Amino acid sequence: MSPQRIATAIDPVPFVTLDRQHERLMPELREAFERVVGSSGFILGAEVEAFEADFAAYCGVAHCVGVASGTAAIAIALGAAGVGPGDEVIVPAHTFIASALGVIHAGATPVFADVDAQSGLLHGGSAAEVLTARTAAILAVHLYGQVCEMREIRDLAARHGLFVLEDAAQAHGASDGDRRAGALGDGAAFSFYPSKNLGALGDGGAICTDDDALAARARELRHLGQRRKGEHVSIGANERLDGLQAAFLRAKLPHLDTYNQARRAHAATYDRLIEPLTSLRVLPVRPGSRCVYHLYPVRCGNRDALATRLDSEGIATGIHYSPAMHRHPAFETLGKASHPVSLANADAWAAEVLSLPMAAELTVDEIERVVAHLSPA
Ligand SMILES: Cc1ncc(COP(=O)(O)O)c(C=O)c1O
Repeated sequence: MSPQRIATAIDPVPFVTLDRQHERLMPELREAFERVVGSSGFILGAEVEAFEADFAAYCGVAHCVGVASGTAAIAIALGAAGVGPGDEVIVPAHTFIASALGVIHAGATPVFADVDAQSGLLHGGSAAEVLTARTAAILAVHLYGQVCEMREIRDLAARHGLFVLEDAAQAHGASDGDRRAGALGDGAAFSFYPSKNLGALGDGGAICTDDDALAARARELRHLGQRRKGEHVSIGANERLDGLQAAFLRAKLPHLDTYNQARRAHAATYDRLIEPLTSLRVLPVRPGSRCVYHLYPVRCGNRDALATRLDSEGIATGIHYSPAMHRHPAFETLGKASHPVSLANADAWAAEVLSLPMAAELTVDEIERVVAHLSPA
């Protein structure tokens, strides 16, 4: 927006603001593009290795393995951990569909667990409810940018010999105490879908881990099962991160903390302005954890009417997510075994959640305009 332009009440408020982010970053992005085209390092190569080193250091883990998407990261991390056909993986019933699809792509079966009524997150108690003799792993989805309470989940996993994979697709830079998402499980899957807190200019993903063997297996599986050139040791996939996306991600990573700080400031503004509106509930954040607000969800009894009204005022919203996982026609063939317990909290979230505009580049004026149209909710 040009500085001369004065915002009016009818100016739309966008849901994502990548155009604003990219306008400011254009010189760095152009430089990254020219570097890759100049070197022809399009598939894996130096840019991918450099980004992997940078992102592993950022997350505080020994290894980062760049892959083609967050969905691929989940599938490959599970495969690398030896989770596959015949195994069950506990997945929260309230998440984005790709969490469960990654499990299915690994050949395993998702079993849906309920989530915490307040935070919408999987927790140790709800995971324990769906544990069976076939359970091999737990997918701890750090939804909306808030990390799951991992201590209980890890204790449960330790007692039953389960692999804990973080789905950190929405949680780049989130933390619990002094540990960042990516370093809270046995492995972690990240997405760099463009609108994520750290987003590429296309698809991208990564697996983070401290486990040398897991990282080595993941490197093989993403690259046609190849250990060394010409030596194919397993049935791998073509799920590599490409050099251009890695170079763009390297340009953006130094800005991630600033972007997250802006998201947190916007969330604090929303929280403060929404507090008097008794018909809306905001996301509670666990003390000691740092939420990076990939999304800003509110709960509201008449969600659809509110979304329609905001839309008529030019305010973009989203629904993250509805229906709950076990109600997707895509998962019908999994049958009742995939949802053996009540998933009432997941259903309640699906019925009531509405995401308000959230992005680092929004202005306080835009946040205030959104809130001005929330009442009566
Ligand atoms: C929670 C969650 N898991 C997994 C994914 C899958 O990531 P991708 O779209 O990169 O495959 C996403 C995002 O799209 C997500 O939000």
